[in-house]
Amino acid sequence: MSEEKKFLVIAVDGGAASGKSSTSRALAKAHRLMHVDTGAHYRTVALPLLRRGIVCAEDFFASEKPLEDLDLGTVVRGNEAYMSLNGIVPDDDEIRNDKVNAVVSQFASIPEVRRFLFEYQRRQKDVARERGFAGLIMDGRDIGSVIFPDADLRIFLTADPEARARRRAAEGIADSVAERDKLDASRKTAPLACPEGAVKIDSTHLTLEEVVAKISAMISAL
Ligand code: DC
Repeated sequence: MSEEKKFLVIAVDGGAASGKSSTSRALAKAHRLMHVDTGAHYRTVALPLLRRGIVCAEDFFASEKPLEDLDLGTVVRGNEAYMSLNGIVPDDDEIRNDKVNAVVSQFASIPEVRRFLFEYQRRQKDVARERGFAGLIMDGRDIGSVIFPDADLRIFLTADPEARARRRAAEGIADSVAERDKLDASRKTAPLACPEGAVKIDSTHLTLEEVVAKISAMISAL
């Protein structure tokens, strides 16, 4: 009798430019998982806020219902699930630029913003199942600690700040990774931290392929 394969949930957390998304994308393809980049969610939500002239947490609290009328959806392309806002998935260069990098950590520290995304992010597990994927791989800062503390595998990726800054520079992106990490790790709600029981991997001296191979073996053993 063939045993039915368990639907897998894999959480990948880590600091800015730690390689979470590239690693998760490759693992999704190798194991038929749906990949969700939750950093993109925070970046996407930053767009309507910036459009309303909100550039910091103080502005957010001073404005009336800043998250009202924002309708979140999911568009799946290949193994990637993208968050749409009022029916539109923003282009990568709209959410990955200096303007958004400068404000996104501040917005992500606001409990209302995190609450706004919590249910949506949890729901992606059902989306992955409905679409026939073998599981879900989600990357971010609080996936193994808050969103899916019960995940089948929780990974925490680290790398020296210099190595991470080099990676971002190689992508042609100006991003103060150390500064964002400091903000992300020091906030009160869902701070960036390695959750207890997670597998910590330091990728400073590893290639992307080596990190993928390490985690891939762990997924195959589940
Ligand atoms: O992974 P990234 O650099 O694209 O994430 C952008 C910002 O979003 C990051 O500075 C912190 C925040 N974030 C978060 O607080 N929680 C997550 N699960 C994912 C991202």
